[in-house]
Amino acid sequence: MKIAVYPGSFDPVTLGHVDIIKRSSKMFDRVVVGVLVNTQKKPLFSLDERVNMLKDVLSGVDNVSVESFDGLLVDFVKQQGSNVIVRGLRALTDFDVEMQMAQSNRLVAPDVDTVFLATSLEYAYLSSSVVKEYARYGVGLADSVPECVISKLIEKMNQP
Ligand code: PNS
Repeated sequence: MKIAVYPGSFDPVTLGHVDIIKRSSKMFDRVVVGVLVNTQKKPLFSLDERVNMLKDVLSGVDNVSVESFDGLLVDFVKQQGSNVIVRGLRALTDFDVEMQMAQSNRLVAPDVDTVFLATSLEYAYLSSSVVKEYARYGVGLADSVPECVISKLIEKMNQP
């Protein structure tokens, strides 16, 4: 049974994330989406909100589960019985950061590999940060986040 872990902050989940998750779910027997508890970027959504949005969006995908994790990613990967981390690569700007992360993880756990999937073209410049800016300034979100996330984002933006 080949298990992969797809980690991230998911603040909030975007259509780019969903694309990577669905594509990796076809390559592995099981994909565990790992939601980082203590992201250094102060999240807009609480851990529960981030996890629940992902569960909602992925409820129809049988071999994907959503878990939260704190501490080192490679420890979480091993706890899940996996040795593969999946990450999406968007534009060139991702490369440096992602390489550094993959190499750091390999230094700590040489038996854990990172597999990069090229993001689908339509999501190449999409990020959770951009989505939050869109929501703040009233830009349409239908092409950026799953349906159920739109109302949650608008709700958050309208909170004092
Ligand atoms: O969605 P993000 O914010 O790009 O995801 C970053 C994430 C969660 C993959 C990264 O911050 C991470 O793995 N954090 C856990 C701590 C860790 O293991 N750090 C060492 C890797 S350099």
